[in-house]
Amino acid sequence: MIQLAPSLLSADFWNLENAINTVTGAGANVLHIDVMDGHFVPNITMGPLVVKALRKRTEAILDVHLMVTQPERVIESFAKAGADWISFHLEAATHPHRICQQIQNMGVKAGITINPGTPVHALAETIHQVDFVLLMSVNPGFGGQKFITRTYERIEQLRKLIETTDHKPFIEIDGGVCMENIRQLAEQGADVCVAGSSVFGNENPAQAVKSLLIQAGA
Ligand code: DX5
Ligand code: ZN
Repeated sequence: MIQLAPSLLSADFWNLENAINTVTGAGANVLHIDVMDGHFVPNITMGPLVVKALRKRTEAILDVHLMVTQPERVIESFAKAGADWISFHLEAATHPHRICQQIQNMGVKAGITINPGTPVHALAETIHQVDFVLLMSVNPGFGGQKFITRTYERIEQLRKLIETTDHKPFIEIDGGVCMENIRQLAEQGADVCVAGSSVFGNENPAQAVKSLLIQAGA
């Protein structure tokens, strides 16, 4: 069954508590936390302090998406702050295998993320090690962008690659997920869908979460 991960990037930072309670109360059990460093992507967003504050108050899975250069430098702080899942970009990693180990050694699920311009087969080696793959369906950096439809073919390629492994990393899709595409994403094998603007940009975020989950067949 698909899980929905509202992206806090699109939430009202003035009242994060309300935003989180609203989406978790409506059935979202993963919170997607977009970490941007102003180098790998132009934007600057949240750090480990935010994760630490959330960890004290919510049972939801904290899904940290690192859009940073040299991810190995910040993994320990996010793991100690209480992240449950940490993903880093293959494009930003010199030693992806070692970074996966670093994350997993801290008791956290390790994910590798690839941009829309990176071929899926670039994951051929690390797929045997990761707990999940975060497939970007927009170019990272901003919420509210349009879903890139080629993602459907990329999910198919990823599923074929996963069939070559002994374990079964789960598939998370990030960017432009909305009512128009979540059903097809679920049918094609997405396990987790991130949704920012289609949840928090809606005037009723709780209803948006419920509708997306129903639409996905969850
Ligand atoms: C983009 C981020 C996404 C973004 C998703 O760089 O990684 O998680 O917040 O937002 P929407 O759903 O609005 O595309
Ligand atoms: Zn993200």
